[in-house]
Amino acid sequence: MNHVFINANEKKSVINPNIYGHFAEHLGRCIYNGIFVGENSEIPNEKGMRKDVVEALRHIKIPVLRWPGGCFADEYHWKDGIGPKEKRKKMVNTHWGGVVEDNSFGTHEFMELCRQLDCEPYINGNVGSGTVQEMSEWVEYLTFDGTSPMAQLRAENGQEQAWRVKYWGVGNENWGCGGNMRPEYYADVYRQFATYIRNYGENKIYRIACGAPDFNYDWTEKVMQTAAHHMDALTLHYYCMPGEGWHDKLSATEFDEEIYYKTLHKALLMDELITNHANIMSRYDPAHRVGIIVDEWGTWFAVEPGTNPGFLFQQNTMRDAMVAGLTLNIFNRHANRVVMANLAQTVNVLQAVILTEGEKMLLTPTYHVFDLFKHHHDAHLVHSYAQTQSIGTEKFPLPNLSVSASVGTDGKLTATLVNPSADKALPVTLFLTGMEAKNASARVLSGGMRDLNDFDAPQKLKVSPFDDIKAASDKITLTMPPCAVMEVRISP
Ligand code: AHR
Repeated sequence: MNHVFINANEKKSVINPNIYGHFAEHLGRCIYNGIFVGENSEIPNEKGMRKDVVEALRHIKIPVLRWPGGCFADEYHWKDGIGPKEKRKKMVNTHWGGVVEDNSFGTHEFMELCRQLDCEPYINGNVGSGTVQEMSEWVEYLTFDGTSPMAQLRAENGQEQAWRVKYWGVGNENWGCGGNMRPEYYADVYRQFATYIRNYGENKIYRIACGAPDFNYDWTEKVMQTAAHHMDALTLHYYCMPGEGWHDKLSATEFDEEIYYKTLHKALLMDELITNHANIMSRYDPAHRVGIIVDEWGTWFAVEPGTNPGFLFQQNTMRDAMVAGLTLNIFNRHANRVVMANLAQTVNVLQAVILTEGEKMLLTPTYHVFDLFKHHHDAHLVHSYAQTQSIGTEKFPLPNLSVSASVGTDGKLTATLVNPSADKALPVTLFLTGMEAKNASARVLSGGMRDLNDFDAPQKLKVSPFDDIKAASDKITLTMPPCAVMEVRISP
């Protein structure tokens, strides 16, 4: 029996809903086919956006969407993607599969997508192959409300009114695909670019600097040292890969228990990464003004056999759901420092929440985890503690239970629990302080570690009500199925 202690009176930071953000790059079938099919498509769409995908994303209350990349961002010249579509430049997407990018999805389409999703846009500008002027004009084009060359161009392209775009990324992975820069060099370049990203009118920009990949603490140290005063947030990228090194990509669907536990063990490293990067940042920013944005995270496996290696299309099993549940609990617990996170990537790429095939669409197990966690958005993180035992393998151990809890503005408590065991059910007693346990309900996602949704059985895995809970005044007793993510909600 595992004991979990939750104190609803011990309120910590508010969980920024942007922790539940997503990322859509011009990569494979993420934007094209996955989200955008064009107005003339037979697939039901509104202004070119797939209605089924938009509806599904609205259901999990997607708070923010990062675009246009990724590595693509540092090759993207935004002026190629505005104006009449037939006149837009066709280019080669050199980074992702060498396919033709016809620029039919550009700035106006992205802003329309965010409108339909009712989410915040997060635009990642081009530093690697772009200019200061180009990024500065993009900000002016989107947000300047008055008479200026870019505002006029925007109006000529059909958008008289300025948009609001708060989140601007200055380059992506500039230590790698974004220019192979040294941190000292990037920090100076960042300062220069960030200077010309102007606040126009009411649009107050939140400047986001390119941060480190996984354990590259030197990057964080040097960029903070030189540029901390000029940024609002620093990013972190971490992909969970069970292979031996970057080039050893293992199958998304065929794995044994050893690889299953190795994957989850690696997912849990996110906790250490956030702690260590945050500690370095604190030395240059003791007041914690600069937030951490994990704007790329998730599993990265081998592409599905027979698919374009440059499209990064992988299936999604209950193992991915475990990675999502464990990671989102970590983000919640670091709500005082992590202000945004963006799963890579929304549709058909890496750890996608949605897969499409022509007109068909399915929700992956990872999607359902976001559904189970959605009541944490904007809620107050509260103290929770789980007594755990170690499971997994000798080399890749992990605790047999993960938890985070929050209290929403409606006074309801939400606890999200993950039982990562591949085969063992887990009896749990939740002890509550500061709240009566009697009005408790639960929902669950569970299955075998290799189970997945495909187009033959798109609803094999889904969230179900979980009624087998016993609620007394100060405690709740339940047994979690193996390989499960559960939401427990308690009304005051
Ligand atoms: O998400 C796929 C790629 O991973 C992104 O383009 C890049 O930023 C990262 O290396």
